Amino acid sequence: MWSNLPFDVLSSIFSFLSPDSLARARSSCKNWHTCGSFITQYKPQENHTQPWFLALPIRNYQKPFCYAQNPITNNWHEISLDFIPTQTTLKPVAPIGSLILFKVTNSTTLELVLCNPFTRQFKYLPKLNVSRTNPACGIVTIKEINDVWCFPRFRIYVAGGMSEAKHGGAAYETTVEMYDSCVDTWDIVGSVAVEFSVRLTVWTPNENVCVERSRTRTRTGTRTRTTTLYWITSARAYSVMGFDVGNNCWREFGVPHADKLEFATLVRWNGGLGLVGGTCGGSVCVWEMSEEDNKWCLVDEMHVELGLKLLCGKRNWEGVKCVSDDDAICLYRELGCGMVMCRKVGGIMGRWKWVWVDGCGNIKGKKVLNCSIRGVLVNPSLACSTIFF
Ligand SMILES: *[C@@H]1O[C@H](CO)[C@@H](O)[C@H](O)[C@H]1NC(C)=O
Ligand SMILES: *[C@@H]1O[C@H](CO)[C@@H](O)[C@H](O)[C@H]1NC(C)=O
Ligand SMILES: *[C@@H]1O[C@H](CO)[C@@H](O)[C@H](O)[C@H]1NC(C)=O
Repeated sequence: MWSNLPFDVLSSIFSFLSPDSLARARSSCKNWHTCGSFITQYKPQENHTQPWFLALPIRNYQKPFCYAQNPITNNWHEISLDFIPTQTTLKPVAPIGSLILFKVTNSTTLELVLCNPFTRQFKYLPKLNVSRTNPACGIVTIKEINDVWCFPRFRIYVAGGMSEAKHGGAAYETTVEMYDSCVDTWDIVGSVAVEFSVRLTVWTPNENVCVERSRTRTRTGTRTRTTTLYWITSARAYSVMGFDVGNNCWREFGVPHADKLEFATLVRWNGGLGLVGGTCGGSVCVWEMSEEDNKWCLVDEMHVELGLKLLCGKRNWEGVKCVSDDDAICLYRELGCGMVMCRKVGGIMGRWKWVWVDGCGNIKGKKVLNCSIRGVLVNPSLACSTIFF
């Protein structure tokens, strides 16, 4: 019966499979392989929300690879990146659905690339209106009602950076530009005061968190929606920059223990703004920004034993990096070292659970080089996104 199914029916069935099941289905026969390669829509399942950790080696070795940790089977996989042009070096900015946004690091001015390493799809985004170095990047994904596809519409905001001044030399850029995935172009949509531009540029913050809030005005009863992008400065004492996208307004605020934290990363915590930070002595804490009074409050703490295991006997958090998405926070070091994951278990206001994940030492009996990596959490998809067409 299966071999007689029309192409589109089979393709539709395949679109319900998780990536690893689809990979297995694709490898069973030529017909299925062809069919599985033409999926352009993908319906993510509720129970497949655990993101994969993707490790990208920082240095380029002879053959470009990345490593992916499957959280369901707990296996590591090696993924070839030989489809990326050889002269291009990339640094992940953030995941967008099943895609990853990268910065081209062999270029001094900002150039962005979209990529799905699982389908080997790759694309340069158009050039910005104002060419600039080291601006801050933020992503807003637009979830539409009935949006079941894994390829959300998204907008990329770029603020600050250094650009060429009118009379020569370089100056802090005060425009905010936006890329819209629907029209595939950039447009100037706002501004940023010079003092904010300086902070965004000097510290080149990378981690960005987008928080959407809808509020009902008590007096009028109307509901308003605000979308705010947050960046954290990358050096002590840490502070957070917030950009209200709709109202084009900026604000800056502090973080708890700003001068004592050895690392600090912004995360999404149950839909709101969270902060993960490590203090000297081995403790990692999570704070949440309360919606009512804009105050940070301590909401979770990593078990001391997990912290000690991650530090491998060291006393400080130097070299520990952190990435996150809606459902997980991951603290990691080199590829061969283990990681600590904080995973959301259940509901919108869910509980979070800290677990140990082994590092990548061997793949199929072959030893893997223990190298420095950059991590990104992504919900993988083997469906071909039409954004690349
Ligand atoms: C970076 O790599 C791309 C892709 O190969 C290439 O087109 C570009 O010229 C490179 N940029 C620099 C500054 O070398
Ligand atoms: C940005 O560039 C695009 C394409 O060149 C153009 O259509 C648009 O008007 C520009 N926007 C601004 C604000 O300069
Ligand atoms: C990987 O390298 C780090 C830093 O050099 C080291 O602490 C760690 O023990 C190494 N892990 C393995 C499995 O070799």
